[in-house]
Amino acid sequence: MSDHLDDDMKSVVAAVRAMLDSTGGNRRESETVATTIGRLVASGDLRPGDRLPTVRTLAKALGISPTTVSEAWRSLSSAGVITTNGRNGTRVRANAGTGAPTRYRALGTGADEFRIDLSSGIPDPTLLPDLGPSMARVGRADLTSSYLDDPVVPALGEHLAATWPFPAESLTVVDGCLDALDRISTEILAFGSAVLVEEPTFPPLIDLLERLGCEVIGVGVDAEGPIPADVVRGLEAQPVAFFTQPRAHNPTGVSISESRARVVADLLRPTGVLLIEDDHAWGITTGPVESLGDLLPGRVVHIRGFSKSHGPDLRLAAIGGPSEVIGRVRARRMLGAGWSSRLLQLLLLDMLSDETVIEAIATARNVYSSRRRRFLERLRSHGIALGEGDGLNLWVPVDDEQSALVALAAAGVRVAPGAPFTFGRRADHVRLTVGLLPESEADWLAGLVASAARAGGAPRVSRGLGPMSM
Ligand SMILES: Cc1ncc(COP(=O)(O)O)c(C=O)c1O
Repeated sequence: MSDHLDDDMKSVVAAVRAMLDSTGGNRRESETVATTIGRLVASGDLRPGDRLPTVRTLAKALGISPTTVSEAWRSLSSAGVITTNGRNGTRVRANAGTGAPTRYRALGTGADEFRIDLSSGIPDPTLLPDLGPSMARVGRADLTSSYLDDPVVPALGEHLAATWPFPAESLTVVDGCLDALDRISTEILAFGSAVLVEEPTFPPLIDLLERLGCEVIGVGVDAEGPIPADVVRGLEAQPVAFFTQPRAHNPTGVSISESRARVVADLLRPTGVLLIEDDHAWGITTGPVESLGDLLPGRVVHIRGFSKSHGPDLRLAAIGGPSEVIGRVRARRMLGAGWSSRLLQLLLLDMLSDETVIEAIATARNVYSSRRRRFLERLRSHGIALGEGDGLNLWVPVDDEQSALVALAAAGVRVAPGAPFTFGRRADHVRLTVGLLPESEADWLAGLVASAARAGGAPRVSRGLGPMSM
């Protein structure tokens, strides 16, 4: 293959060179090369099938090492942006890569051999509302609808609009919060887009954003929510969006405080950043701020999940926010499934209006809260003081993640490893779905967790997330 650079590629080299100069050593060179090429593909300046220079040619033209270019080629290739095919050289691909959800898979499945499985993050099936009466009523409904009808059952749309935390320009219903995150992300992000994400966070969100080739920038979380200094730093990368969980944050259990919500809104207001809120535990959380929508009009896309309150198999979530974003999600969906099952939408609507179901969800919320309090109390008596938090999960600091997992597994207890919730940080936490733990089991399990957490024996306090400050 020749070392010659044609005119198109000269402009690619110039774009990469300019980006390398402007980042001034603040980012890894290979990352800058990869994201610049990705942006050129996303903008159409590089088109599917275009042949890229060889590693050696590009390295020489840029005055950087061939290893750096190889590294960039590797990450573009694993994100499915380019493909290398022997004598055919390296070309821009027409389509995306494998997108293996590595973090999500690392959480594992098949816990049959464990006595207690606290790894799953799912609600307690015994605390979900009885679907029977609603199903019987919905079974008699007239469900014939046209493919071009509104994707949201009108009465459900009215219910959502009336209970939405801010006046949403547009609302729609999709197949769960993760589906919402997927649909919103694919509409608003391109390869190379910078995005802010709370760290730690829900592992499939990180997998998804990496799959889309985004530059993912972590924003730490303390007892009051996203850490302002991290938001300020992250904004320097000119992100397109900030993904947050305003309540019962998974995995930490943190809900944003009212004062922190105002600070975050003040920081975002002068920027064009879209705030994507995942209120995944709606119905079972008591966090004070449902949304920053009123503080940032027109700039918040809010997701309300029904999996934790009504059951993951209902597979429904609602999204509300600017019509620019929701309209694109709706339009794109018309070329696929079209809408979320109206049968399920009617079931949800029936349950949202049924007093028995409303009471069952209130009871679940109280039970989760007392299970959590009881376990935290017991942990504290063993020297581990954590903030109170909310929701189903506890984020427990450990000296060594692997040995903690092994010690717990040896006693028949499965918890989730912490590393998949991070962007590759040191593995120093585990996540316990304490919402699944009956209070009667709290005593012995707290002792076990406390000893598994300690490799050295000193009492521990979670960094920033405790003690008891929430
Ligand atoms: C933060 C977060 N987002 C989304 C989801 C997925 O929710 P859904 O079942 O609505 O897709 C979960 C599930 O635990 C979650 O914790």
